[in-house]
Amino acid sequence: MRYLVTGGAGFVGSHVALALIEHGHHVTILDNLSTGHRAAIPTGAQFHEVDLLDTNRLNTILANGPWDGVLHFAALSLVGASMATPYHYLRQNMLTSLNLIEGCVRYNVPRFLFSSTAALFNNQGNTPLSEDSPINPGSPYGESKFLIERALNWAERIHGLRYGCLRYFNAAGADAKGRLGEDHQPETHLIPLALDSALGRRPPLKLFGNDYPTPDGTCIRDYVHVSDLAEAHILTLNRLDTGSVTYNLGTGQGFSNLNILKAIETVTGRELPWDWAPRREGDPAILVTDPTRIRTELGWQPRYTKIEDIIETAFRWRLAHPNGYRGL
Ligand code: UFG
Repeated sequence: MRYLVTGGAGFVGSHVALALIEHGHHVTILDNLSTGHRAAIPTGAQFHEVDLLDTNRLNTILANGPWDGVLHFAALSLVGASMATPYHYLRQNMLTSLNLIEGCVRYNVPRFLFSSTAALFNNQGNTPLSEDSPINPGSPYGESKFLIERALNWAERIHGLRYGCLRYFNAAGADAKGRLGEDHQPETHLIPLALDSALGRRPPLKLFGNDYPTPDGTCIRDYVHVSDLAEAHILTLNRLDTGSVTYNLGTGQGFSNLNILKAIETVTGRELPWDWAPRREGDPAILVTDPTRIRTELGWQPRYTKIEDIIETAFRWRLAHPNGYRGL
C-alpha cells in the first residue's frame, strides 16, 4: 500500500512510519520540520518538506497518487503551551487538518488515520475512560483535536471518507533497536526530562502539583510504548475497510508522577534530583483508559506492560544520543 504520513519526522509519526515500512508498505512523509527532525525520517521513506498550510503543494502531492491512506500526526501538541496561545493552537491544528481532509476527499484517498488524544477528556475521578466517556477538553490543544474528530465525522457522512481516530494516552519509550527516540525542542514531557535530570544533564526536575485528588496528590497517566502505538495503527488501517472507528489507546494502567520518578531511579540506578512546583495549567488529574474496545475489536496487545521496560528503551536512546537528533 502507499501511505502519506504527515508529521512523520516527529516522535510518534516516525515510529509509525518505520512500522509501516517494516510491514512492507511504501511511505511518503510530509513534515515542515518545525518540531520534527530530518534524522528521524526512517530509511526507505520518501520525504517532502512541506507545510500543510501550503494548499498548492499539499494538493499537488495528493494529486500524485493514488494513495491508499493518509496518517495525520502533524500538529502542535503541548497542553501547557496551548493554554498560553489558545487561538494559535486552535487555528494551526484546525486549518492544517481541514486542508488535509478536504484534499483527501478531492483526490479520493479512501482511508484517514488521525492522531487524537486523551486530552479530549478532563477526568477528575478514578474511573478509567472509555470511548463513550464524556468529552470535556481541559485545554485548547485537546479541543482542537476534538474539533478535528468532528470534521472527520462530517467528511464521512457527506463524502464517505473512512477514518480512524486513535486517542493516545501518554506515548513514551523508544524503538527497541535504538533507531528512533523522543526529542522535543523544548522538551516538556516527564520521562525524557526526568531521565536527563537523573543523568545530570539538566537541573533538578520540577514536579508540577502535589494537591491533585489522587492518592499521592500528583497526576496519574497511562503510559503506552510508542512501538505498541505503532502496531495499533497497522491494525486500525486494516480495520478501516469495514467502517470508521475510534479507539482509546493506552494500556489501562495508571502511574502517578511520583511512581514515574521512582521508576526512573530504578532504571537508571541513579538518584533523581527534583523539587515541587505549582500545577501546570491545563493538566487533568487522571488520564487512564479502559482499553477493552481496541483489545477486543482489533486484538491489540501491548508488548510493553511494565513501566520500567518502557522507560528503559527511552533511557538507552538518551544515553546513546546526548544531544537528541542534533548533529545526526
Ligand atoms: N510533569 C511534571 N514536570 C515536568 C513535566 C511534566 O511534573 O517537567 C508532569 C505533568 O504536569 C503531568 C505529567 O508530568 O502531570 C505528564 O506530563 P507530560 O508533559 O509528560 O504529558 P501530558 O500528560 O501533559 O501530555 C501528553 C501529550 C499530550 C497528550 C497527553 C494525553 O504530550 O499530547 O499526554 O495524556 F494529549
